Amino acid sequence: MISSRAENIPSFLVMDILEAAQELERAGEDIVHLEIGEPDFGAPEYVVEAAARALREGKTRYTHCQGIIELREAICDHYFKNYNVAINPDRVFVNSGSSPAMFSVFGVLLDPGDEVILTNPHYACYPSIFSFLGGRPMYLNLRGEEGFRYRVEDVKGLLTPKTKAILINSPANPTGIVIKKEDLETLARGEHGFIISDEIYHGLVYEGQAHSILEFTDRAFVLNGFSKVYGMTGWRLGYTIVPQEFIRPMQKVQQNFFISANAFVQWAGVAALTGPQDHIGQHVTEYDKRRRFLIQRLREIGFGIGSEPTGAFYVLADAHRFGSDSHKLAFELLGRAKVGATPGIDFGSKAEGFLRFSYSNALDNIAEGMDRLERYLQG
Ligand SMILES: Cc1ncc(COP(=O)(O)O)c(C=O)c1O
Repeated sequence: MISSRAENIPSFLVMDILEAAQELERAGEDIVHLEIGEPDFGAPEYVVEAAARALREGKTRYTHCQGIIELREAICDHYFKNYNVAINPDRVFVNSGSSPAMFSVFGVLLDPGDEVILTNPHYACYPSIFSFLGGRPMYLNLRGEEGFRYRVEDVKGLLTPKTKAILINSPANPTGIVIKKEDLETLARGEHGFIISDEIYHGLVYEGQAHSILEFTDRAFVLNGFSKVYGMTGWRLGYTIVPQEFIRPMQKVQQNFFISANAFVQWAGVAALTGPQDHIGQHVTEYDKRRRFLIQRLREIGFGIGSEPTGAFYVLADAHRFGSDSHKLAFELLGRAKVGATPGIDFGSKAEGFLRFSYSNALDNIAEGMDRLERYLQG
């Protein structure tokens, strides 16, 4: 018998779309991929070289469960340089992506029935992971007509004796919003448990600035990784920064469930953080160009976009004009217009009737995708 835990976990719809798209491609179709949040810029050459060197040098054994000290120190330097926060490397845990890191964080924080406050819309996997561990989601509903701004004033109404954590993600997937500094300060002052701050899109901001939660409180877990900013999705490298008192429990979870992240990939991570960083600025300039183009074309085609997203590489566009069942619409657009987009429902009920478009694809491909959508939807 399959466990009810496994029965109840929803599929990650963007992966369903991606896999369906790949099947069409195997059958000879040409698909424009705007569904997946995967940078088209690969890792810089010096990162590839560092991984190859590490492999040649035999850096292929288990490492400390928290990761090699060189990488943990580089992560601490990164947080000091960017946010002026001093962190001891003992508080850093390296993992094979931030996704397994989420499992560890929720695992050390949550008992069955504990509540986690998170936005709706939200990154699809958060509630799947913590519900698997017995946690319960409490949704802070955001409004499309307000451009999905973070409604910090509504958090109080969701607090209960069972509240264990507030989970934030800024810049956010799927909305592209960046939480204001004052709102982070308000959250940090709050009388609730811990803040879990997913900072994986830091570095990809087009207006304003993203702040780390660690600038305002130490009662926080930070999730971050190399997938987005360094174009290292398939390398699987991420990390967590945890409060002091969680070091030992995190070690036990890491040791038992993961042992360690890939050794040679960790050396690539050291290179990524300590090597030249100018490629990031160049990518941001390019993403910004794509962002503005995509927003303009989506509006021309008839999608609704309230206030414009200013971070990450997504546009969550109102597609009600074309259908209110986003799952059906996304599969229809894939099959008929040969364009991959992610159904809003993947990100919660407040994104139903929306589609998420990723601009982590080249401008020419985005242009082609928009032309196909225009022909299909207006044809
Ligand atoms: C908000 C957010 N957090 C975490 C992840 C997972 O990243 P990783 O590749 O580090 O597991 C993603 C991937 O899309 C994401 O959008």
